[in-house]
Amino acid sequence: MKLIYLALIAAFVINLGATLDPHEHNKVVCYWNSTSYQRSGPGQVKLEDVSQALGFCTHLIYGFAGVDPVSFEAISLNPTLDTGAGHAFFRLVPQFKRNYPDLKVLLSIGGNADPYEETHKYLVLTETPEARTKFINSVVRLLSEYDFDGVDLAWQFPTVKVKKDSGALKKFWHGVKKVFGYGKFKDEKEEEHRTGFTNLVRDLKTQLRPKNKALTLTILPHVNASVYYEARLLAPNIEAVHLLAFDQNTPERNAKEADYTAPIYESYGRVPDDNVDASVRYWLEHGTPGGKVVVGIPTFARTWKLTSDSQISGVPPIVTDGPGLQGPLTETPGILSYGEVCARLTESAVGRVRPVKDPSKKYGSYAYQSYNPDTQVDGIWISYDDTDTAGNKASYAKAKGLGGIAIWDLSTDDYRGTCSGEKFPLVRAAKFKL
Ligand SMILES: *[C@@H]1O[C@H](CO)[C@@H](O)[C@H](O)[C@H]1NC(C)=O
Ligand SMILES: *[C@@H]1O[C@H](CO)[C@@H](O)[C@H](O)[C@H]1NC(C)=O
Repeated sequence: MKLIYLALIAAFVINLGATLDPHEHNKVVCYWNSTSYQRSGPGQVKLEDVSQALGFCTHLIYGFAGVDPVSFEAISLNPTLDTGAGHAFFRLVPQFKRNYPDLKVLLSIGGNADPYEETHKYLVLTETPEARTKFINSVVRLLSEYDFDGVDLAWQFPTVKVKKDSGALKKFWHGVKKVFGYGKFKDEKEEEHRTGFTNLVRDLKTQLRPKNKALTLTILPHVNASVYYEARLLAPNIEAVHLLAFDQNTPERNAKEADYTAPIYESYGRVPDDNVDASVRYWLEHGTPGGKVVVGIPTFARTWKLTSDSQISGVPPIVTDGPGLQGPLTETPGILSYGEVCARLTESAVGRVRPVKDPSKKYGSYAYQSYNPDTQVDGIWISYDDTDTAGNKASYAKAKGLGGIAIWDLSTDDYRGTCSGEKFPLVRAAKFKL
């Protein structure tokens, strides 16, 4: 009798836990990189543009705040936009909740927006209780001052170095590397930092819980989760972990060879743990409830330059020579927004590229234009998620009983609706498969 009673209570408690998250399996987490407001001309993304996506998002993550290297407090990285008289996005963005009462608005810290030269502070902060307390108090203050519903820690841990591929890909490898962030830095205190971060999350959540504020994690590309994240100990103190399982290849890390940047599964001969499914499995196998694991979907494409050395088939892996030319909106070599890619898919487009779909639903789409031997004009190779592959990732999340999807970010989806007439086609496509 007593046992039955206990079992009933347990069932009730578990149920209660589940009902606390109304979006346990259909989270659509939308990041907005607010620096996109400072792009020029039609590349500028305004609050009015962002608001057009919010009917599809359950969470809006405002990016990005940073960390003060001396005081270890969370600070605005862009006071003109965040707190300045003209914009004051810290104040305005949480006010989207007036029109979208169910929307949760979180402030993200890190996200690779903090200058690379200073990223060591993300490790030093975890080392002492004093530094952690300063950070925690500053976060609690920021959230209540600006009415955010929570904080997202997109912690700038050291990233793994570029791996030399083996077997099938060896002959393409030219060994060219560029120094990034921590550069050649080797973290000799990995365990200390891992434990420090776990404690930071625990103590931060202790402060946030009574205030009913959320705490989420964003795992940045190339951060080795098994080194820095004690999933099992983190799980009770977080609402979700957003896995940015993309940028597996980038024109900076892999200048001489392009490949799929955000596959769901490993393809033949590739590095086995560089895909969505491998990241997801790490968190699930280490005790994270499925409903807290969220799959990141990039709305931006990575591009490489094709030259006379590149295979004309377009099939990856393909020989390349660094980043492809910049696009008119994002104005960044090696990157195109989804809107910029799809503008080049139509028959009549200037700089038309040929799309190659992925019927296997495993690896993602690509598009390319080969080097032109007659005019000697370089070509371009583009790895990207389109509406089909974004939908596939959402279907994957659903099939595995995960928490949903995270769109990185609104500013590189087609916010103007030039692809198909509908604004934010990738957000929509993914949302409708959940
Ligand atoms: C945010 O957008 C700006 C402007 O396009 C870009 O320079 C920056 O790299 C983006 N930041 C992140 C973290 O994606
Ligand atoms: C991540 O770290 C683990 C050890 O903690 C190691 O076995 C694994 O190879 C690393 N993964 C990568 C991609 O470097």
